[in-house]
Amino acid sequence: MKGIILAAGRGTRMYPMTKPVCKPLLPVYDKPLIYYSLSLLVQAGCDDVLVIIPPGEERAFAALLQDGAQWGIRISYAVQQTARGIADALLIGADFIAGERVCLVLGDNIFYSPMLSEQLHQAAAIDSGAVIFGYWVEDPRPFGVVEFDARGRVLSIEEKPLQPRSNYIVPGMYFYDPSVVEIARGLQPSARGELEITDVNLEYLRRGDLRVVQLDRDMLWLDAGNADSLLVAASSISRIQHSTGHYVGCIEEEVWRGGRISADELSALGGELANTAYGAYLQRLAAEK
Ligand code: G1P
Repeated sequence: MKGIILAAGRGTRMYPMTKPVCKPLLPVYDKPLIYYSLSLLVQAGCDDVLVIIPPGEERAFAALLQDGAQWGIRISYAVQQTARGIADALLIGADFIAGERVCLVLGDNIFYSPMLSEQLHQAAAIDSGAVIFGYWVEDPRPFGVVEFDARGRVLSIEEKPLQPRSNYIVPGMYFYDPSVVEIARGLQPSARGELEITDVNLEYLRRGDLRVVQLDRDMLWLDAGNADSLLVAASSISRIQHSTGHYVGCIEEEVWRGGRISADELSALGGELANTAYGAYLQRLAAEK
């Protein structure tokens, strides 16, 4: 399965913080924001990832993530010239998807749950249709909102409704079969001028091909789209890492657990980050087994 990260937002709503560094590369506690999305894709089993970036940022991303070989995966890049919406990622990535299944994640969404790995594997194992998620939040109005009937079947999905029909939002992680490219090609821009991912999901719903998995209420999901949510994200990650002893969003750990690099290679990656808690963590993991 292919993986796409849409990380093309400069973060203009976070100026001046994002003037020197675009949003996906901002730190969230001890690692750049994009690490969280990339480690999700690795957990889901993707070893070929397209990162969609803002114009003018090629060197910064390549310096950070390189071509993926250091982690036993493949990373390539494409630029989104203008913000045409999330579904535009599927058009930019059409040749990359090349008739395979794809997992699309948003570069500013952070997920954490000890059970997440299993849920990702289940979603990745489905070979036709789409799998998306539903997550309970207090105020769903800024998001895509999914409504269920008493038996858990999906009744509706609405993008940023003024009067939401439920508290379940659709977070930024979507699993699609290859027909998603043809669906994205048929979309019309919404009132806000964007190709909406909600319209893609609605088309799968219309075809009877959409599964919505409800995520645990105690799972952590964050949309790090402004200064406050970034601060909440950083303190949540710090708290989880200190209380569990496990890192969240640690790409090196996930590629090692997925058998893409050896313990020796993990240890060497830790050695490159000498004198950091992050490097020491990698070396501790490598010594465990
Ligand atoms: C987008 C999607 C929305 C989804 C959200 C998750 O919103 O359109 O359906 O719930 O991401 O972060 P946007 O970032 O465009 O406001």
